Amino acid sequence: MGTRSFHFVEDYRTLVRQLIAHLPLPEAMSRAVGGDFTAMGQIERQLLIGYGLKPDHTLVDVGCGAGRLAKQLVDYLASGRVLGTDVVPELIDYAKIGCPPTWQFTVVEDIRIPFAENEADFASFFSVFTHLLFEESFCYLLESTGIYWKHDESLSPAARSYSPFLNSSKTGRCSTMHTKRFATDCHSCT
Ligand SMILES: C[S@@+](CC[C@H](N)C(=O)[O-])C[C@H]1O[C@@H](n2cnc3c(N)ncnc32)[C@H](O)[C@@H]1O
Repeated sequence: MGTRSFHFVEDYRTLVRQLIAHLPLPEAMSRAVGGDFTAMGQIERQLLIGYGLKPDHTLVDVGCGAGRLAKQLVDYLASGRVLGTDVVPELIDYAKIGCPPTWQFTVVEDIRIPFAENEADFASFFSVFTHLLFEESFCYLLESTGIYWKHDESLSPAARSYSPFLNSSKTGRCSTMHTKRFATDCHSCT
C-alpha cells in the first residue's frame, strides 16, 4: 500500500531542482531560501544571539535550507553545534559545506525532528511556517519542546524556539498561498 507524502516535500524539491537547472549553484541555493544569503544569515544569527544563544549551545535549525544560518554560526558556536533538518536533499548537501563535521544535517519528509530529547538548547524555524499549514506548524512546535531543554532553565520556551512569523499578520496569507501552490517568489516572505 502506498503512502502519501506531505505537500511541502514535492513542492519544495521541485522548486529547488528547477532553480538548480537554470542557475549557477550558489545563486540557486540562495534563491531557494529567499536570497540575500549572507545578509539574512547574519540577521538570523544576531537574532538568536540576542535571544541567548551561547557559543557552547546546540541549535536545532528546522528547515535549515542551504545553511544560510549555519554558515554564519561556524565561528560563533566554537564548542556548540548545529543540527539542521530540511526536506530537500540538495539543500542539505549544500548546507554541510564549510561546517564542522560534528554538525549534523538531516533530510526529513514530515514534521518530525529526528534528534534525541534534551539534545539541544534552541530550536529555530526561520521562514518555515510560511510554507506549512497552521496545524503542521503547531505540531512542529510541540515536537520541538521535546528536544531543547539542555542547559539554562531560565530561558522561556518562546525565547528558545524562534519562529519569526508565527504571530505575524503575514502568516495567514503566506501559509495559504504556499500550501496550495508553492510560490517561486517565496523570498517575499523572508
Ligand atoms: C524560505 S526557506 C528558509 C530556509 C532557512 N530557514 C533560512 O532561513 O535560510 C524554507 C525552508 O523550509 C524547508 N521546509 C519546508 N517544509 C519543511 C518541513 N516540513 N520540514 C523541514 N523543512 C521544511 C524548505 O525546504 C526550505 O529550505
